[in-house]
This record gives sequence, structure tokens and C-alpha cells, in this order.
Amino acid sequence: MKGIILAGGHGTRLRPMTLVTSKQLLPVYDRPMIFFPINTLIQAGIKDILIIVAPDRAGDFLRVLGSGKNWGVKFTYEIQDKPSGLPEAFIIGSDFIDQDSVTMILGDNIVLGREEEVRRAITTFTRGNRVFATKVSDPGRFGVIEFDKNHQVKSIEEKPLRPKSDYIIMGLYIFDNQVVQIAKSLIPSARGELEITDILKVYLSRQELDVKLFSGEWFDTGTPDSLLRASNYVADHQRDQNT
Ligand code: G1P
Repeated sequence: MKGIILAGGHGTRLRPMTLVTSKQLLPVYDRPMIFFPINTLIQAGIKDILIIVAPDRAGDFLRVLGSGKNWGVKFTYEIQDKPSGLPEAFIIGSDFIDQDSVTMILGDNIVLGREEEVRRAITTFTRGNRVFATKVSDPGRFGVIEFDKNHQVKSIEEKPLRPKSDYIIMGLYIFDNQVVQIAKSLIPSARGELEITDILKVYLSRQELDVKLFSGEWFDTGTPDSLLRASNYVADHQRDQNT
């Protein structure tokens, strides 16, 4: 199992904080944001991790993270010239993925608690696509997943104006090797990007999409408010652990 952390983009919603460095290197309480997704992959036993970054920020990531030796893993870096959608990670990373399966986590996604559940979902994975869903109060900002009465997936929609459910798909995805070919076959959506939810829909149509409900804490830290919420949560949590 290979690991990918997608940490490209310009973090426009976090300007002016992102004028000099990447969103994924901004602090979440006492450490750079990207330390959290790195930990999620490492806790799941993944040792070979590709970090995809924006061209003008690559030096910052290298200075902060280096080779991975300090973490006991190996980091490889690739450049995403311009952000044109999450599936591009599998095209940029196709040589790195080679014939293996891959777990991708977004560099601004913080997954806390239920570590054992996440680890098991990754270590027991054999084929298809496994994703995590969680309930939120603002589903329209995310990929929304709707279930029928029998808990089967009924629909998946990217950032719908009228969300059909409060369940969204977290930025932590486990794929078998088919993902590389599927990513290469996608066409851009109306907003001009390749959409990760279009990959999930292909796996759903092949009856190979497995959705796990996640009951720990999840943050997408792409806006000032969500970044503050994540920082406060991490600070409270660490204080609790130290007392
Ligand atoms: C992306 C995905 C979305 C997912 C979200 C999780 O959106 O497109 O399906 O729910 O990540 O953070 P973005 O945050 O890149 O707009």
C-alpha cells in the first residue's frame, strides 16, 4: 500500500496567511497542518509516501519535512503545476503507485480519534475503493453521499446546492490500482476540474465502493473558521491528555 498526500493549491480562502507559504504548512495549534495527515498514514503502517505540492512552495515542504527519515518513512515529492482536481494526483503519481494500491489523504484533512478503525480499514483492504463518510452541518461544501433504507449508497454529488443528506465523504480514500486508469479517463466537470466523486461513481457502478461510517473527529481546514475550530480542538485534546 502506497500513500499520497495532496498538498497543492494556493489556499486562496486563507489569504493573506497563504501569501508566503502553503495552507498545509500553516499551524494547527502547535504543529504544521500536514503533520496530521502524515500521522494518519504512518499510524496505518504506510511507509512510502508521495507528497504532491505547488511548484512555488516545494522548498518550504522540503525544509519542513525532508526525506522522511525522522519519521521512519520515505517521502517522495512531485509538483502539481496548477490545481485541476484531486484525481490528478493519480496521474502525477502513476509511476510512484506502480502496480500497488494507494491511500490518498488531503493535506488539509485532519482525522482524529478512532485510529484503530482507520488503520484496520487500510490494512484489511484488498480491492475496489473504500471511503469514509461522516455527518456535518454544512454538507454543501463537500462531496455528499446519500444512503437508502438498507444503507446502500443511493447517490454521490460534489458540492450540491441542495444536499440530499448530511453525510459527506472525507478526504481519505483507499483505492486499488484501477484508480490510475479511471483518473486518466475522466473529463472535467462544469467547474473545470476533475472530480474525485466521479472516480467514486465509477467504483459504485462496478459495485466496488465500500463506505465506512467514521465516528471520530474530522476537520477540513480550508477556511479560517474551520482552521480555528481544528486548532481549538487539538489544543483542548492535548490539555486533556496532559492532565
Ligand atoms: C474535496 C472533495 C470532496 C470532499 C472534500 C473533503 O473538496 O472534492 O468530495 O468531501 O475534499 O475535504 P475540496 O475540499 O477540495 O473542495
